Amino acid sequence: MKLSEGLTVTELKRFKQEGEKIACLTAYDATFASTLDTAGVDVLLVGDSLAMVVQGQSTTLPVTLEDMVYHTACVNRGRKRALLIADLPFMTCWSPETALQSAAGLVQQGGAEMVKLEGGRHRLEAVRLLVQEGIPVCGHLGLLPQSIHRLGGYKVQGTDPHDAERLLEEACLLEEAGVDLLVLECIPATLARAITMEISIPTIGIGAGPDCDGQVLVLYDMLGVTAGKHPRFVKNFLAGTEDIGGAVAAYVAEVKSGQFPSRQHSY
Ligand code: KIV
Repeated sequence: MKLSEGLTVTELKRFKQEGEKIACLTAYDATFASTLDTAGVDVLLVGDSLAMVVQGQSTTLPVTLEDMVYHTACVNRGRKRALLIADLPFMTCWSPETALQSAAGLVQQGGAEMVKLEGGRHRLEAVRLLVQEGIPVCGHLGLLPQSIHRLGGYKVQGTDPHDAERLLEEACLLEEAGVDLLVLECIPATLARAITMEISIPTIGIGAGPDCDGQVLVLYDMLGVTAGKHPRFVKNFLAGTEDIGGAVAAYVAEVKSGQFPSRQHSY
């Protein structure tokens, strides 16, 4: 029996304890997965941003579980070392049982080693059930793209004290429920720092400042190929490098050294 040579959740937790930053990027196919893995990316996230950057949709809402399973399986074939996380897309977590059934597809057919779900307090039962069945879970707080119509736009979250307090509390509740990693999207750097210090699981920031335990960006954003206006947390790593492998290696190096994100990429 060949034992896996890949990174595990336990090792990512050790990274936090030892102060090593976690470099994460989204991936949607085998060729990019292999390039990212070779360049030293620790975690590959098959994000439901797939809807926007691959399928050309205007939000993440239309992507289906079937689409996610297909792309997760593609990414799985291209990687060796990186941990593989897949997003549970819109309306696949409306009950704990639905979340479990959807997560099972991502794990069994897609090869995901962890699933990510958006939301706090109202997801605790789903998290407990998944963890009880042996499926590691990544939480996601702050800007929740699946709730975009309720939020009324892609805006920074947790800017008022009441909302900041709620996010800190929900981070603790998610950890208690069994979440192993936590994505923090578009929140003030000071709040992300407070959450990161309060919980013992690693936080992965996107637009959440330099003090998270790791960073994630949408692959096409960091390669500078996404059309239109970019949020301030995006940096084009292809500019100034010779090829995509070099751009990804530069991203990994800047995340690991703490050079990225800087104040200019934070709120
Ligand atoms: O779908 C996605 O790409 C994500 C990241 C932005 C964290 O959830």
